[in-house]
Amino acid sequence: MPELFFQPLDNWELARQGAKKMVSAPVAIDIFAGKTYVEKAIVADLLMERLTVLPLGCKAVPESIAVVLNKIDWQIQEKLLSDLNLHWQQTNDSCFDLTFSLSPGARCYGLGERYSGLNLRGRVHTLFTSDDSRHIESIDMMYKAIPFLIIDDPLAPPGSRFRGLFLDSTARQKWSLDPDGDNTARIEVLTRLPWQIYMFAGQTLPELLAAFTLLTGRSQLPPRWSLGHQQSRWSYPDEATIRSLAVEFRERRIPCDTIVLDIDYMDEYRVFTNSKERFPDLKQLVADLAELNFKVVTIVDPAVKKDPGYSVYKEGIAGKYFCETADGQIFIGKVWPGASTLPDFANEATRAWWGEKHRFYTDMGIAGIWNDMNEPALFDNQTPLAIDARALPAAEPFFHKQDKEQVGHLELRNAYGSLMCRATHEGLKKLRPHERPFVLTRSCYAGIQRYAAVWLGDNMSWWEHLAGSVPMLLNMGLSGVPFAGVDIGGFGGDTTAELLLRWYQVGIFYPFFRNHAALDTRAQEPWAFGPEVEANIRHLIETRYKLLPYIEQLFCEHRETGAPLMRPLSWLFADDPVACEIDDQFLLGNNILVAPILKRGKSSRFVYLPVGLWFPYEGGEPLSGGKIHHVSWPLGTVPAFVREGSILPLYDDPVQSTVECDKAAVTFMCFGDHCQGIYYEDDGISNNYLQGQYNQWQLSYSAGKLESRAIHKGMSVNHKRRYGFVSVNGAGVCTLSLD
Ligand code: GLC
Repeated sequence: MPELFFQPLDNWELARQGAKKMVSAPVAIDIFAGKTYVEKAIVADLLMERLTVLPLGCKAVPESIAVVLNKIDWQIQEKLLSDLNLHWQQTNDSCFDLTFSLSPGARCYGLGERYSGLNLRGRVHTLFTSDDSRHIESIDMMYKAIPFLIIDDPLAPPGSRFRGLFLDSTARQKWSLDPDGDNTARIEVLTRLPWQIYMFAGQTLPELLAAFTLLTGRSQLPPRWSLGHQQSRWSYPDEATIRSLAVEFRERRIPCDTIVLDIDYMDEYRVFTNSKERFPDLKQLVADLAELNFKVVTIVDPAVKKDPGYSVYKEGIAGKYFCETADGQIFIGKVWPGASTLPDFANEATRAWWGEKHRFYTDMGIAGIWNDMNEPALFDNQTPLAIDARALPAAEPFFHKQDKEQVGHLELRNAYGSLMCRATHEGLKKLRPHERPFVLTRSCYAGIQRYAAVWLGDNMSWWEHLAGSVPMLLNMGLSGVPFAGVDIGGFGGDTTAELLLRWYQVGIFYPFFRNHAALDTRAQEPWAFGPEVEANIRHLIETRYKLLPYIEQLFCEHRETGAPLMRPLSWLFADDPVACEIDDQFLLGNNILVAPILKRGKSSRFVYLPVGLWFPYEGGEPLSGGKIHHVSWPLGTVPAFVREGSILPLYDDPVQSTVECDKAAVTFMCFGDHCQGIYYEDDGISNNYLQGQYNQWQLSYSAGKLESRAIHKGMSVNHKRRYGFVSVNGAGVCTLSLD
C-alpha cells in the first residue's frame, strides 16, 4: 500500500473549524482499514491516474453512472505520480477527507452549476443536489452536482497548464477551494461506499476536456428543432391560450420552434395524464400546432401522486418501482401533486417501466420531455442532511435498489436526476428509434451530456442573473455539458423591456435557447413590451436562426472533441493573461466572441479583444486585438465579433421554424482575405448521421474565391438549397460537390 495515503495530517478538524470558531479541535485520526489501489492509463496520449478506495467490507466498486470508457488498459502502479500533493484519510465510518495543493495564482473551473464567477477558488462548494431557488451570493448547494474540477496553473509549463480531478462518488461532497488563503484545497465526502478519484495530468484546456468527455461520454446531436427558440411559461393555462400563442408567433413573424407545457397541462399534477378540462384533446392540439410548424415539449416530474385510483401509482406499487423506507414502506413526500411517491430510478426495472410510460406522450406526438424537480425536490424536506453534518446519519430517509443491492438515498442522491433522464432518454429512444431524443433536466451528475440538455433552474429577472449566466454556463461547458442555457428574461420576478432585450442579446448564443417565466410574473413573450422592443427581439431571434448551421457544426465538434459550445477566452488564448481573467465575454466556438451588455442603463462597455483582427458581427470596420476597446451596443444589436480568418455558415433569410431549414439558402460569410471554415449538413432529426449519413466540407476562401472540399460524404447534396458566399471583396454563388 503506498505510504503516501497514510501520511498523517493533523489539522483536519482544526482547518475545518478553526477559521470559524478560533478554537482548537481534536485531531482527527485516520481510521481507514479497507483496501486501496492506484492505477494509471494513457487515454488519448494523456496520462490519467485513478485512486480507488474500498472501505472495510466493500468488495467492488459499483458501476458508475458517469464513466462510460470501459476499455481502458489500467495498470496498477505503486503510488500517485501527480504533483497535486493529494492526501486523504477516513475520519469516521462515513466521512473521507482529502487535501491537495493549489499553487498561488492557480484558477479553478468546472464543478458543474455554481453561482460564481468563472474562477471558483476562494470558497466552499457543496455538491449535493438541492432545489434552492434563492440564487444569491451565499447559495451553495444547487440543482446539479458534477465533481470535476479544472485547475489552471499559469506558472506551469505551457501545454501542461490545465489539470483535472474527477471524484466519482454520488454522495455529498464539499470542495473547499482555498477559502483560508493557505493554498490548500479540501474535499469532504460523506460515504460508506467505495469511491474513485481520477487525476488528469497537465495539458491544454481542449485536451483536458477531450479526455474528460472520453471518460464520461459526449452528447449526441440534438434534433435541430431543439436548437431553435423555445417559448415557455408556468403555465399557459389552457389549450386556447396555447393556440393563440402559436398564431401570435406566426402572425408577428417571430421565429419559434417549440411551445413548452408546464405542470398545468396535467390532471392534478399526475404525470402521464392531461387535464380533461383545460387540455381535453392534447393529441389534436399537438397535431394542429404541427401544422404551424411547432413542436410541443411537456414537463414530467418524478413525483407520482399517491392515489389508489391512479394507474401509474398502482403499477408502481405492483412492480415495486418506488423508493422504500428502512421498514419496507413506500416513501411518501410532498411535491406538486401533494402526497407522492418517488420512482427508484437506480433500479433498472423502474427505468424500463418509466421509459415505456412515455408512450403516452409519443402517441400524442409530443416531441421532447422536460424533467424537473429531480434533485429530488420535496417541499417538506429539501435538504435531507444537515449542512454541518460530518457523517451520514444512522437513518436514511429512504433507499434505492441498485444491482440488487440496497443503497441509502444520501449516498446516491446526486445521481437521481441523471438516472431519471437516463430512463426518459432510453424510453424515447425505444419508442421513437429513428429520432434523436430531446430531454431537458434541472438536476444531474457527471456524464449527463449523454442523456439530456440542462437549464440552470429558477433564476430571477435580475441583472445579476443575466450577468451570472455567462460564467455559470461556461463552467457547465467545462464540466462536460455542452447543451445548456438559462431562462431568458428571468424566471421569478417581473422582467423589464430593457432586461428582456439585453437577455436576448446574449441568449441567442446560449446553446439552449428558451424564454421561461414563473407563475404570477408579468408576460415576457417577445411582444410583451410593444412594437419597438418586439422588432428588436425579432431581429435577435432571427440572428439565432441564421446562425443554426454554425451551431450544428459546433455540436458535431463537441461529438468529435468534447469541446463545449460556449468557451472561456482561455480556451483559445491561454497565453494571454488578460484573456484568462475575463468572464463577462465568451467564445461561441472558436470564431465568435460575444461581449454583451450585462448592466442596467448601459449601452456601451469595455471589450477586451485578444490578439488578431476582429470584425463586428453586424458589419463595420474590424478592430485590432491585444487591447481593450470601448464599444457601443444599442438595444437590439448583436454584441459580438468574428475572428479574422473565419467562415461562418449562415442561413440567408430568417426561417420561422427549423422545419423550413431544408430549403433555406446558406451563405458562407468570410471574414478576411484568407479564411477557413467547416460546413456540416444532415437531416436534422434522424439518427442516420450515426451511420455516416451526413456531409461535411472544409471551406477555404482566398483571392475572391471560395473553395470547398468534402471531408465526409454520406448523403446526396441538398438540391433544394442555394449556396453563396460574401466576403470583403464581394459576393458569389457556389456549389458544394461531393467529388
Ligand atoms: C420549478 C421549475 C420551473 C417550473 C416550475 C413549475 O420551479 O424550476 O421551471 O416552471 O417548477 O413546474
